[in-house]
Amino acid sequence: MRMTTEQVLKALQHVQDPELHRSVVDLNMVRNIKINGNSISLDVILTIQGCPLKAKIQEDIESALREIGLTDIQLSFGSMTDEERKALSATLRQAETTESGMPALLKPDSGVTFLAVTSGKGGVGKSTVTINLAVSLAKLGKKVGIIDADIYGFSIPVMMGITEKPVMIDQTAIPLMSHGVSVMSMGFFSPDNGPVMWRGPMLNKWIRNFLVNTHWGELDYLLLDLPPGTGDVAIDVAAMIPQAKEIVVTTPHQAASYVATRAGVMARHTKHEIAGVVENMSYIEERDGTKRYLFGQGGGDQLAERLETNVIARVPFQPVDQGFTTSIADEDSPASEAFELLAETIDFTYKQSQ
Ligand SMILES: Nc1ncnc2c1ncn2[C@@H]1O[C@H](COP(=O)(O)OP(=O)(O)OP(=O)(O)O)[C@@H](O)[C@H]1O
Ligand SMILES: [Mg+2]
Repeated sequence: MRMTTEQVLKALQHVQDPELHRSVVDLNMVRNIKINGNSISLDVILTIQGCPLKAKIQEDIESALREIGLTDIQLSFGSMTDEERKALSATLRQAETTESGMPALLKPDSGVTFLAVTSGKGGVGKSTVTINLAVSLAKLGKKVGIIDADIYGFSIPVMMGITEKPVMIDQTAIPLMSHGVSVMSMGFFSPDNGPVMWRGPMLNKWIRNFLVNTHWGELDYLLLDLPPGTGDVAIDVAAMIPQAKEIVVTTPHQAASYVATRAGVMARHTKHEIAGVVENMSYIEERDGTKRYLFGQGGGDQLAERLETNVIARVPFQPVDQGFTTSIADEDSPASEAFELLAETIDFTYKQSQ
């Protein structure tokens, strides 16, 4: 029986571009198919020249073709023209925007739960909580993204070991993946990784860029690492993403808790629902399991009471040589157990589990 082009396209329908998570056929990357008995030649048009994922795409296409009985396979690689890339970018962006120009992610039925991680004070572990909660949610099988919106000190790329910059398809950015989580950061766009003060309209523009001109694909959770305090970033984000649930991070130390209260009051002011308080560096767990409360006790509870919410996690202080060799808690460390529990609590609360 003669193999048809339709059969080949059907077989290749399941091959995805690893970055865009879309079928190579739908992306019009497969062209010029010529079949002769068990031999086939075709062109594979990559989105960018020197695409680092070329080998993976090649392997996936070849194995899909072998599966339908083709033995002699010849692929020629090319790359899209600027015009084609523009068209592709427009298609991707269309998927990210509704007709009214609203980011599709923000539609009530988008299925995305936004979690804004805030604190009153810097250095309490906001970014650590954001990353580890995201990684734990991903381990539960959820599709998770992080927006690093801490304009004063974007730290997520370094903390997650990301050194590349995102691939741009014309105006659309493809988030970088680390530990199963998609990441976008202000840091990707700052020259020399230096701090940039994006304020007011500029800042709005960036947050909007992260929501609209970014190809997130399907998402269950989008976490936002906000700068500490109650500044204009929080207000902007609140105005743009009113459905975000706020996670307020504090240490047990009372002073920190006091300052964090202001962030919480702020949350009420901006009508963000508060998901709960995460008390970080709550205690040190000795090897025999006893807990030592080195930063005092009660800060988390006090804050939760003032905010009329609950402490949803107590994360132990994890010394570097006992499970915090990177910013992501080592598997089976007490901190990672606390983050896994937090992820389960969050997922249970927002009913994504079924
Ligand atoms: N539970 C923990 N155990 C041990 N170290 C921790 C813990 N949580 C955070 N740290 C460390 O404390 C420091 C501050 O944490 P992190 O950067 O997450 O705080 P932040 O609130 O995001 O700070 P910033 O205000 O600078 O953005 C980091 O060096 C981090 O590795
Ligand atoms: Mg931080």
